[in-house]
Amino acid sequence: MTQKAAYSQAAHTGKYDKSSGLLGKYDNVRRFWEDQVTGIFLRSPLNALVERKRQRMERIRILDLGCGSGDGYDLLTGVTTKDPGIYEYITATLTPDMIKEYVGFDINEDLLEQAEAYYGHLPKVRFIRGDMSGGLPDSIKDESPFDIYFTSFGTFSHFNHSQTVKIIADIARHAADGAIFMGDWLGRYSYEWQDLWDQPANKEYFMDYRISYIYPEEERDKAEVAVFPLRLVSRDEVVAMTEDAEKVGDARINPVTFFDRSIFIGRHMDTGDYNKNCPKLRGAVNSLFEGYVRTDLESLLVDYVPRPGFDHLNNFFEMLFMCSNTLVKHTIHVLSLCDSDTDGLKSVPDPLPFYPDPLKEAMASMRRVIEGVGWVKWGDVRSNVIEPQLGYSLRKLEMDLQPGMGMGHGLVGTFEIQK
Ligand SMILES: C[S@@+](CC[C@H](N)C(=O)[O-])C[C@H]1O[C@@H](n2cnc3c(N)ncnc32)[C@H](O)[C@@H]1O
Repeated sequence: MTQKAAYSQAAHTGKYDKSSGLLGKYDNVRRFWEDQVTGIFLRSPLNALVERKRQRMERIRILDLGCGSGDGYDLLTGVTTKDPGIYEYITATLTPDMIKEYVGFDINEDLLEQAEAYYGHLPKVRFIRGDMSGGLPDSIKDESPFDIYFTSFGTFSHFNHSQTVKIIADIARHAADGAIFMGDWLGRYSYEWQDLWDQPANKEYFMDYRISYIYPEEERDKAEVAVFPLRLVSRDEVVAMTEDAEKVGDARINPVTFFDRSIFIGRHMDTGDYNKNCPKLRGAVNSLFEGYVRTDLESLLVDYVPRPGFDHLNNFFEMLFMCSNTLVKHTIHVLSLCDSDTDGLKSVPDPLPFYPDPLKEAMASMRRVIEGVGWVKWGDVRSNVIEPQLGYSLRKLEMDLQPGMGMGHGLVGTFEIQK
């Protein structure tokens, strides 16, 4: 092979493409915020399940419903045991040897082809094509019970109330005792789609969901954007569906936790498709996590615009964004003192006593990180250490302050099936 042919072959594999965490499905926010937050909330029930199975000398069977490209495999094997000590190397609670089988299920053959390409070489991974809109199909019902019934990133928003009840009832019937079920929907009251808050809360509502965010801003107007219906739900609607599913089955579906994911950085923050007042926070947070790229920290400040008639939602968003603004301004201030003299940091004001505890904690952490590394003269510690830490601190603020009611891009519920 000539060198020209070798380079051309490499280019055609796609593996020569420029990689960046600033845009696309696997942007930095997806990997370092959304996947991680999901894993942190799953940690406790997953740890308990793994421990129980280990004691019984059994391995774990996983069903990933609406698996798409099979990303659930990485997400689940990336959940950590606890806040691991800094000296520990293996931190995963679910190591591949503890998996008996991971079965991915999806309707879309192109996505399953991609899933096969990414994960098909793993010996305990298998994919099945089928439609679950009428409940779990026979191809799944004929399988042995699973220990985890997993969905992610809005999969349940493809279905209406009665379809969802049927799927959940089938899961409860099929599951092993003590199995974990995780349901993932789009939240009804995300700031991203504030224009849609007026829809009556007592009626099912499907938004016209635009996948416009995959295009760079300058191409969005000209692109042929795919649009399809996705259901927006509140926690009350999720509870109603699981209660209805419980009535038709013979198992208990016990809620473990509900959480709002991506309140701050949902994908439609930057498109403005459903709320022109949204700040472009996803792009800014992608930049925080990107190595050797400095971020204009002022672009993280939010001037929240309330919607009349929704006081409780406005109060929540105003509180959250006031906290994030305070953290960002604090970080800008502490950074500005680094370049002055060595004693400059002593003049950083303490957080005020009435600030919420998560904000106080985040401010103290950012100060300590900057004090600890701000003096290092190589490796651009601002973009490579301090900015990612600000990203993690904003993420923690969102996690600690979210109410799990449907105020984020995603609303997730985890449940334990009791037989
Ligand atoms: C929002 S995507 C989530 C994909 C993936 N879990 C992820 O984390 O990126 C929803 C997935 O549900 C699948 N899906 C939609 N309707 C379905 C149906 N009726 N039966 C099975 N899968 C379905 C879609 O093909 C898509 O892969």
